[in-house]
Amino acid sequence: PNMQSLLNLDEIEEVATKQVSQKCWAYYYSAADDLFSKSFNNLVYRQVLLRPRVFVDCTKCDTSTTLLGHEVGIPLYVSPAAMARLAHPAGERGIAQGISQFGALQVVSNNASMTPEQIVEGSLPGQIFGWQLYVQKDRSKSEAMLARINKMSDKYKFIVLTLDAPVPGKREHDERNQNVGASLPVSSGVKTADEPKRPGGGGVGQQLFFGTAADLTWKSTLQWLAKHTTLPIVLKGLQTHEDAYLAAQYAPQVKAIILSNHGGRALDTAPPAVHTLLEIRKYCPEVFSRIEVWVDGGIKRGTDVVKALCLGAKAVGVGRAALFGLGAGGVEGVERTFEILKAETETCMRLLGAEKVSDLSLKHINTRAVE
Ligand code: FNR
Repeated sequence: PNMQSLLNLDEIEEVATKQVSQKCWAYYYSAADDLFSKSFNNLVYRQVLLRPRVFVDCTKCDTSTTLLGHEVGIPLYVSPAAMARLAHPAGERGIAQGISQFGALQVVSNNASMTPEQIVEGSLPGQIFGWQLYVQKDRSKSEAMLARINKMSDKYKFIVLTLDAPVPGKREHDERNQNVGASLPVSSGVKTADEPKRPGGGGVGQQLFFGTAADLTWKSTLQWLAKHTTLPIVLKGLQTHEDAYLAAQYAPQVKAIILSNHGGRALDTAPPAVHTLLEIRKYCPEVFSRIEVWVDGGIKRGTDVVKALCLGAKAVGVGRAALFGLGAGGVEGVERTFEILKAETETCMRLLGAEKVSDLSLKHINTRAVE
């Protein structure tokens, strides 16, 4: 279908669902247990209400900001998500092409279906990537990958260390479809086709997690990481104010945290980022000035993006939306996804009476229903 005829992210997901394989759909759509956190991630944004101000000149609207010291066109990023080539042969590089005109960041998954070199090939000068790390039990594999990323520091400007999934969550849609269709397009450089397989099969998620270390700790892992890269570290998957506070103690090595419950794919009934943002505001607001706080999970509308920014998030990530964009229309589908999100974000800012990202604050929202 003509991508321009699709007006919102749900419509794009609907088209992608029809076009991708059953196995791909099940892997992308799936979340842990009863999918409560996955649904709530999105629903919670409906509970936060907007407080538009009138008689504000809204001719201009500027979505640009800075992330980790880099200028970006929009405070949106692509969350790391494995196996983009399950959806479309353009894969993770297709996502890079699709977002290039928006000046958005892209975090490449440890379990991407293309190598980190292939993904940045042909990207625009100044287009910025992060690389997401799942520390492997065999540390030498992760060390070798970090060495490769360090060599591409003109493109890869930060490392995202994911902490919320030391083991995979129980994703029943994925498990049910484990034997459907083709084998995985694995070639991230970490995972290879000749990788030892998880005995007894399992869904895509369980196969990908085989080999991932479950013994990470604040001190030992960050010290180890400091020996293997000088790139700034972003910790992903924090879900409490206690952990956000601890992370801030590791500045400046840790430059940002991502409040995330892994799109509801790890621990079901874990809190959405909105709740964690509110906790941090209440118990340790100084975190916001020590490190950047990013969020992901459940973002489908520009109003969701704006509400997260009002609550203190510096950047907002999309996981499934980028994958479904790719599945619906390849590079063009990703482009359309970001075009919609950007236009909706601008409309929301204008109707709220905000000219620029730094104007957005708590005064633009009512959070009574979520407190
Ligand atoms: C993910 N996510 C993820 N996170 C991560 O750190 N490393 C990874 O390899 C993956 N892989 C992955 C695959 C798929 C198919 C999905 C849907 C998600 C989680 C991802 O980064 C992000 O936290 C969520 O996707 C955000 O929620 P939404 O935007 O999908 O609702």
